[in-house]
Amino acid sequence: MNRIHVEAIHKGLILDQHIYTKSGALLLPRGTSLNEQHIPYLKNLGIEYIEVTPKLARKKLGSFSLDRSKDVSDEETLESPILLREAEATEAAKDRDFYHLLREDLSQMVKQAVINYSQKGGHDADIDAITGMFRELVRGRNRILYLLDIKSVDGYTFRHSVNVAVISVLVGITMGLSAASLRNIALGGLYHDLGKKRIPPEVLWSDRPLDRESRQKIEEHPRLGYEILHRDKDIPEEVALIALQHQERMDGSGYPKRLTGDSVHLFSQIVSIADVYEAMTSSRQYRRGFNPVETVEYLMGASGVLFPERVVKALLNSITLFRIGSVIQLSNNDCGVVIQANRRLPSRPIVRIVFNEHQIPLDHEKIIDLSDPGNLSLYIIRSFN
Ligand SMILES: [Fe+2]
Repeated sequence: MNRIHVEAIHKGLILDQHIYTKSGALLLPRGTSLNEQHIPYLKNLGIEYIEVTPKLARKKLGSFSLDRSKDVSDEETLESPILLREAEATEAAKDRDFYHLLREDLSQMVKQAVINYSQKGGHDADIDAITGMFRELVRGRNRILYLLDIKSVDGYTFRHSVNVAVISVLVGITMGLSAASLRNIALGGLYHDLGKKRIPPEVLWSDRPLDRESRQKIEEHPRLGYEILHRDKDIPEEVALIALQHQERMDGSGYPKRLTGDSVHLFSQIVSIADVYEAMTSSRQYRRGFNPVETVEYLMGASGVLFPERVVKALLNSITLFRIGSVIQLSNNDCGVVIQANRRLPSRPIVRIVFNEHQIPLDHEKIIDLSDPGNLSLYIIRSFN
């Protein structure tokens, strides 16, 4: 058994430990022989060292194509065809397990995203329907491999892509789109940044201001993603278009084609705004997300300029700005907790006040409905989570 740094792992090593996802699901059981698809995934799990043993040597027999290891003698490598077939079958079963576990991991993330973003707080029926749709969408082998490609960019991009896909679906539901359209939007949301896989990491994750050359490289990712998806006959063109157009903006300020007005496909418009919303509100390694007040101000300003008004409106009617349980501060300096979202006026939820303006805990219950006409002079100035 060897302990090996995750950056040094390679195809053919046998895992000597179970590998779990961050959500606790068993991803790869002990005894799995690492293949090319496993490696980027493992590198993004946040594990530094992995316990492995070198690949067991086997001899090439019949139609089996098996590797050999230098440190095992020929005698030790002789196995019967039946044993080898069993070994192959075991490998195939482990691959199936791997894809199954990856789908499980995705389902957990989708479920959490529906709960986090849905204005309705994620009813069980919605969670099940949306999670089930995503599970079906990634059934094909290629479709799972694209997810692994996105994971190999980094963990943030994968989580971002899942969140964007879920937000886009919630917007699509609000807009009354068909089930087939929702499936394409979900897939396009998942794969919109696939092209980043082909951008050099030192450009993608540079912490210095980007020079012109680096910016040009990054701006290639929509086209690179489109090329991959467009070639795949199993992927609808509308899905590939989402990858191509998700950085276009109504006023022509986007890229790569500087499209204007309604020349951007509706599905791409939906994923574009979900992309911006997710990026603004989620905290990344280097910065905290914008708070919901700032986000709404931005979206209102961008409505009709960068994004079509009806898509901005649908977003504001779909996602929750202040999650239930968010701690907020009001313009009169009272602090409280959001206890109910407001579907019609998302920036005006119902709040239970916990501290008064002097930060002294209240000794009685005080509930404020910010949509009540008597409370219109009050508004949320900060959100702490
Ligand atoms: Fe992107």
